[in-house]
Amino acid sequence: MIADISIIKQNIEQDFATIKDAESLEQFRLKHLTKKGTLPVLVESLREIPKEDKPAIGKLINELRQYVEATFKEFKENLEAEESSVPLIDTSLPGRMPLKGHIHPIKKTLDTIISIFEGMGFTVAEGIDIEDDYHNYEALNFAEDHPARDMQDTFFIDDPRGDILLRSHTSPVQIRMMKSHPIPIRSIMPGRVYRNEALSARSLAEFHQIEGLYIDKNVTFADLKGTIVAFAKQMYGNNSQFRFRPSYFPFTEPSAEVDISCYLCSGKGCRICKHSGWLEICGCGMVHPQVLKNCGIDPEEYSGFAFGFGIERVTMLATGINDIRALYENDIRVLEQF
Ligand code: DAH
Repeated sequence: MIADISIIKQNIEQDFATIKDAESLEQFRLKHLTKKGTLPVLVESLREIPKEDKPAIGKLINELRQYVEATFKEFKENLEAEESSVPLIDTSLPGRMPLKGHIHPIKKTLDTIISIFEGMGFTVAEGIDIEDDYHNYEALNFAEDHPARDMQDTFFIDDPRGDILLRSHTSPVQIRMMKSHPIPIRSIMPGRVYRNEALSARSLAEFHQIEGLYIDKNVTFADLKGTIVAFAKQMYGNNSQFRFRPSYFPFTEPSAEVDISCYLCSGKGCRICKHSGWLEICGCGMVHPQVLKNCGIDPEEYSGFAFGFGIERVTMLATGINDIRALYENDIRVLEQF
């Protein structure tokens, strides 16, 4: 009997060694501690032991029972403690990406353009959206009956003061800068502009422009060319080609329009450049002496250049978006691509 007890003890000890989780703990309990389990059966067998052997055998069985119960309790407590310290996160689940906002493509273009010009020493200035005829046209050398006024279909505002309008370009900010800032002036002026245009894939009634102005002594057309080319190389890449075409704006003389070689087809001709190989990027010119005079600047002493371009057009070329309305519909399926 004594030998049996020691074998049972060995078996139980082996089974203790297999306990590693709730399931093996339960297996152990079922095998050894339940009514038909090893330990209760052993205790039960004490009844059949001859009276004189009972004290010795009973002691051994009792010791074994105490040892098994105490060790089992210890295992159980350790497992429970381990379980409660396990975080209730299933790390094998696929992650859920947080929804992330995007900078709007127009704002991105604007930020890029601003940082390039800031790198060349230009400051950023802003004007006002509701202008008067004087700043939007007259001071910029558009005479009252000048046909160039028809180039920009203007929204006029019914106002007892008369001549109030939504600015049709950012050029009036030039006038405000020249009238209020000491020379030298070297600024870019981004902002919204408004034109009474039919909405289409190419035009909107409200869009953005960026104006540039540099006034100082001895500013020449070479400075204008150098500045535009330096900007465009940073914006469109070093290999771009440029051409300046003579043009007309009432507030600059001489005036030009700048084209860059189409960066999609490298000038070979494609749908985007309408098979010409060139993309128009901006209007520019030397500030007209009359405009300088209108702002109290002596054209004999000072000269300057100005330029202006549309932000939407630059954005469309950069993103491949070919309908300008897509930039304003705020369709998340469009915006999340940029
Ligand atoms: N204001 C002109 C427009 O909206 C663009 C422009 C052309 C601005 C030439 C300039 C410039 O400053 O020099 O069509």
